Amino acid sequence: MVPFIDLKRLVAKVRGDVLSDWTECLDNCEFVGGPRVGAVEKKLASVLGAPLVVSCANGTDALLVGLQALGVKRGMKVALPNLTFWATFEAVAQLGAIPVLVDIDPDDLQMSLEELRAAHDAHRFDAAMLVHLYGWTSGRLSEIRAFCKERGVALLEDGAQCFGVEVQGEPVLAKAEVATLSFYPAKVVGGAMDGGAITMQTKEREAFVRSICNHGRSEHYSYAHVGWNSRMGGVQAAFLLRVLAELPAILESRRAAAKRYRERLSGDKRIKVYGPPAGVTENGYLNVLTVESKKGQQIVDALKAAGVGAARTYPEPMDAQPPAKAAGAIVHGDLRHSRSICERVVNLPLFYGIREDECDTAVEALLAAAKA
Ligand SMILES: Cc1ncc(COP(=O)(O)O)c(C=O)c1O
Repeated sequence: MVPFIDLKRLVAKVRGDVLSDWTECLDNCEFVGGPRVGAVEKKLASVLGAPLVVSCANGTDALLVGLQALGVKRGMKVALPNLTFWATFEAVAQLGAIPVLVDIDPDDLQMSLEELRAAHDAHRFDAAMLVHLYGWTSGRLSEIRAFCKERGVALLEDGAQCFGVEVQGEPVLAKAEVATLSFYPAKVVGGAMDGGAITMQTKEREAFVRSICNHGRSEHYSYAHVGWNSRMGGVQAAFLLRVLAELPAILESRRAAAKRYRERLSGDKRIKVYGPPAGVTENGYLNVLTVESKKGQQIVDALKAAGVGAARTYPEPMDAQPPAKAAGAIVHGDLRHSRSICERVVNLPLFYGIREDECDTAVEALLAAAKA
């Protein structure tokens, strides 16, 4: 039996230190905010190469706040890839803005620059969200950033899945105007509960984000904005600090498994394993593959019957979700690449500490399922 994910392997590594940190948190009543939250923000900034980082309660709040920091308001149009986690769409809809759904590049599976350009010509959106999906990023990242700048489109980068990804050796979010992170436990850097963060380049934006994540406060009982209650506490920060200390080992383990899958499956013409474009170093967040002339669900069912945990990230694109219509989503083009990958996508087990023999068991089960 190979699980799709086993968080216990990372927990085992940090358990002793975390327990003693948590005892200190309890003794100091370090529940909301506190020194460990400040320390985790500093550590995140240094690892991500981003000048400023503000923590918050989860990655979805980070998207909401990030969009607000870029001036997104009710009625504005915001472009986003049709292939992403629902939270990306949700944040736009929650602000009363109008999602504009854009297709992906069929090679790297990230939002297509050509489609983004055409969508802007057609719909003149005010902002865009680029999601660094699956553990890598677009091969055209710098062109997408330049295009948005040139057209005056505010760009939010959803970095929930890209912790540790590098572009030409530099952390992917280092130069993002505003980017967001999720510390949902299954992420590359996962917390002990929900958590998130926003990165930015300027002190002005940092002050706005800090305020808006804390009820829009200017003073304890004075408010400059209508904000949210979206804050991190010491218990979560302590856990994240211990996980961040293991980041090199986490990335090494995940990248090795991703590489093993790619190598072991490269000989089978029916199987296509997706991965980072040239110049991009993946973080090993997810294994992403398709099997010729098979639906993804067929393969996942066969893998599960063989005792191998597998998933489908994601089985349906944004435009297929019932609330998308009610949110007034604009569909740009035929979205055929995002729809097609959703039908076919399969993910093999991939997590910190997965063993080579477990990867090999998953490979054997996949090869059998592809042949059947
Ligand atoms: C691409 C993407 N965006 C946003 C989120 C939302 O993050 P959270 O679950 O922390 O709210 C996630 C993950 O859950 C995600 O994968």
